[in-house]
Amino acid sequence: MRILFVSSEAYPLIKTGGLADVSGSLPYSLSQSGADVKILIPGYPAVLKNLVELQPLTILENLPGIGSVRLMQGRMPDKNINVIVIVNESLYQREGGPYNDTAGHDWPDNPLRFGILSYVAARLGSSMSPLKDWIPDIVHCNDWQTGLAPAYMHYMGVKCAKSVLSIHNIAFQGCFSPDWVAKLNLPAQSYQMHGMEFYGQMSFLKAGIYYANMITTVSPTYADEIQTEAYGFGMQGLLRSRRHEVHGILNGIETEEWNPATDPHLVKTYNAKNLANKDVVKQALQKRLGLRQEAPVPLFGIVSRLTNQKGLDMVLAVADELLKHRVQFAVLGSGERELQTGFRRLATRYPEDVSVTIGYNEELSHQIMAGADIFMMPSRFEPCGLNQMYGLRYGTPSIVTKTGGLADSITDTNDSTVESKSATGFVMQGVSPQHLLSSALRSLYYYKDKTVWKQIQRNGMKKDLSWKESAHKYLELYKQLLGQP
Ligand code: ADP
Ligand code: GLC
Repeated sequence: MRILFVSSEAYPLIKTGGLADVSGSLPYSLSQSGADVKILIPGYPAVLKNLVELQPLTILENLPGIGSVRLMQGRMPDKNINVIVIVNESLYQREGGPYNDTAGHDWPDNPLRFGILSYVAARLGSSMSPLKDWIPDIVHCNDWQTGLAPAYMHYMGVKCAKSVLSIHNIAFQGCFSPDWVAKLNLPAQSYQMHGMEFYGQMSFLKAGIYYANMITTVSPTYADEIQTEAYGFGMQGLLRSRRHEVHGILNGIETEEWNPATDPHLVKTYNAKNLANKDVVKQALQKRLGLRQEAPVPLFGIVSRLTNQKGLDMVLAVADELLKHRVQFAVLGSGERELQTGFRRLATRYPEDVSVTIGYNEELSHQIMAGADIFMMPSRFEPCGLNQMYGLRYGTPSIVTKTGGLADSITDTNDSTVESKSATGFVMQGVSPQHLLSSALRSLYYYKDKTVWKQIQRNGMKKDLSWKESAHKYLELYKQLLGQP
């Protein structure tokens, strides 16, 4: 089975969030299970720099709004996975991130940049593909950036390949002026309620949800949630009408990359049997961040985009109260100005007990996942969430809200789950600063009992979080779509 996996980011080529982790690891796992997979990604400077053995492949002409692009093929630096890159200097070769400039403003031509990504995916899935010896069976799209691909495939009358859209975050909908419908060579009739029109704009995500042959999302709970008004961001009605084609599969994690027993970013490695070195890692982290090291103090870790989704305003609301209990915080993140300022101020008030690093830092993120005692992730919604799973792997139990993938991956700690050895973290009973505070205090209560705490750590560390099972579920869905036994 041939799969074209289309994504706007993939680790280690380029990453802004969890989508990159998934796009960097699921294709490999699918190929380990016997599928023939290629990734399709825009040729941002980092992608062109990081790919190995980059070779010219072909030229695609007659593209909407841009004329032609070159396609090249290279290999992931660490894995045997082929990556097709769309090379076009004016579209993708710019300073800044994949979606915005260095000042954080979205590129105004994003509809064209990701319209082309979607269009190229559709062409490669069609009989008009120049890659005659590699026509995919499945075009697997991810998030709004690729949402037009199923629409293009529909209007091209593609028969050979089926389209799948994975929703990693329904809050990002790729909504633009309806002028783009014509500019992207989409038929006028596609712009209607039964199509890609969404409250007076054209929506890339809605196009994907409407036209894809199958829809998946990144946890079973989120698959249910997005069909409700509270979590559907306006797409719930359409999703409900397609509910038999909506499937939730929990993400796996890259267990080689995120492994405390081999992690090169740590001063010492450790494993479930021998957790003593986790303390050494914690001390090194405290030292690096300038935190007080006088006596053992529980250390809360946060690594996150600083946005409303992640609920970190609730952390700011209870931090003073929590800090009365002799705890520390190590925070790494970037995003909304107000949250950045709030955390910076907290660090100024408690210079020896709160460290805040604003920015993106892969190495420090590993060190916090390993060195913290307790991870905090009180998200208002969380399609899957990866950090709580990294936390499981690193013996750093998380405090989470009961939503999306957090609800599907963390088991609350109470007398009965301690007894049954299934406790892996702390699930808030509601979404408010008070609920966060009471879960945090509960975590401190269990933290004091070293025997129970070790058990909770080990329960998480021995979980199979690899992609194997989830990749298998994707393969089953592809087969179902292709009518294969
Ligand atoms: P989301 O994709 O919604 O941001 P996830 O939990 O799925 O949330 O994935 C976030 C990913 O991005 C994780 O791999 C996390 O470690 C990483 N990450 C987030 N913020 C930072 C940061 N400031 N520095 C380094 N890594 C970060
Ligand atoms: C999105 C979601 C996150 C998920 C990630 C990968 O960024 O916000 O919950 O883990 O995609 O699927």
